[in-house]
Amino acid sequence: MLPLHRFLFLCLAILPLAACAYRAKRLTLQELTSGRTFVTNVLDQFTSPSWAKNLAVCDNGDILITVIAPSASLYRIANPQCSNPTTTLVHTFPNVESLLRIAELQPNLFVVVGINASGVVAIPGTGFLWSVNFSASFRRQSLRKLLLYRNGMTALPENDGDVLLADSFLGCVWRIDIHTKAVNIAMKLSQMEPPSTALVPIGINGIHAKQNPFGSTVLYWSNSFETTIYSIGIDGCTGAMLSGQQEPQVRARAEDGYLFVDDFAMVSQGGIRAAANFNNTVLYASTQSHILRPVVGSENSLLMAGCTSYSFGRRAGRDNVLYVTNSGAEVYPVNGALTMGASVVAVNV
Ligand SMILES: *[C@@H]1O[C@H](CO)[C@@H](O)[C@H](O)[C@H]1NC(C)=O
Ligand SMILES: *[C@@H]1O[C@H](CO)[C@@H](O)[C@H](O)[C@H]1NC(C)=O
Ligand SMILES: *[C@@H]1O[C@H](CO)[C@@H](O)[C@H](O)[C@H]1NC(C)=O
Repeated sequence: MLPLHRFLFLCLAILPLAACAYRAKRLTLQELTSGRTFVTNVLDQFTSPSWAKNLAVCDNGDILITVIAPSASLYRIANPQCSNPTTTLVHTFPNVESLLRIAELQPNLFVVVGINASGVVAIPGTGFLWSVNFSASFRRQSLRKLLLYRNGMTALPENDGDVLLADSFLGCVWRIDIHTKAVNIAMKLSQMEPPSTALVPIGINGIHAKQNPFGSTVLYWSNSFETTIYSIGIDGCTGAMLSGQQEPQVRARAEDGYLFVDDFAMVSQGGIRAAANFNNTVLYASTQSHILRPVVGSENSLLMAGCTSYSFGRRAGRDNVLYVTNSGAEVYPVNGALTMGASVVAVNV
């Protein structure tokens, strides 16, 4: 059996039994990759074994984090810009073992998705979508049950009631209207399917819909085992492909040797940062080169161990700070042996 299957089986079968606790651990490190130095700061670290999957930065600069293990929990890191940020458990979601993704619909209104899994394969019919409302006090509302495995999630820039969900297995994007709860396929493209070389059937993974400076909306997605980020123009309200659209564009592709690209973040000045999860490295592609090359972390370092998702800070002076969640290298331990508790790291890029 592949190490990935073995680990995920262990992780998803056993970890939910572990206590849901985290401990604060802060340190400032510098990592030199490709001749550049970045100041990094561990904002918080969970007890091992654990796996932080996804994050969203709130309007006020706080960070929300979804956790796959040890339980389906949502955490909030308040004042991440301070020397002493505080982490609180917002909520542990019932009926699911893992929380996968979070997307912001409106300020203070988010959608989260959770699942149960056996090994790497989600158990059909176990997924749930909730809305999470932080206006006034915290309120969660169950939106709908999900029948299939979804992965990445993004809100539509011109429609604050719909989300797009990536289906890693079927290779498509679903659109869910959170008011009517209607679900339909927004698009299905061969570039979203798991490639024949995939170790497990994962194709499309991270997705982000962004409005470009000319007002049109572009959907970006990673195809993990192709280590490629694609884009295509979409209708910012419905999520549908624009008519007369040609093939998706390759926006960035990892240089040889990288196994898997997880989530990614678009840099506001152009370029893409992508998480080479199994290689413990943050990759960056400029708009000119389109080639994702290592910038922070390295194969043999715990600093970016098993990095999963990125998001840039949102307050003044924080748009140069990349927040990174990680799995603590649980899938491919560093040097074949080292793992750590999942953490959230701020990287000054
Ligand atoms: C998912 O897992 C939880 C916790 O083990 C369990 O209570 C729940 O029934 C499972 N959901 C389904 C649909 O099997
Ligand atoms: C979020 O909560 C606020 C305050 O309770 C409420 O006014 C608002 O309608 C809620 N939004 C949604 C989409 O439920
Ligand atoms: C990425 O990780 C894989 C699996 O551990 C390894 O075979 C490969 O050499 C790594 N690539 C780089 C560029 O470090």
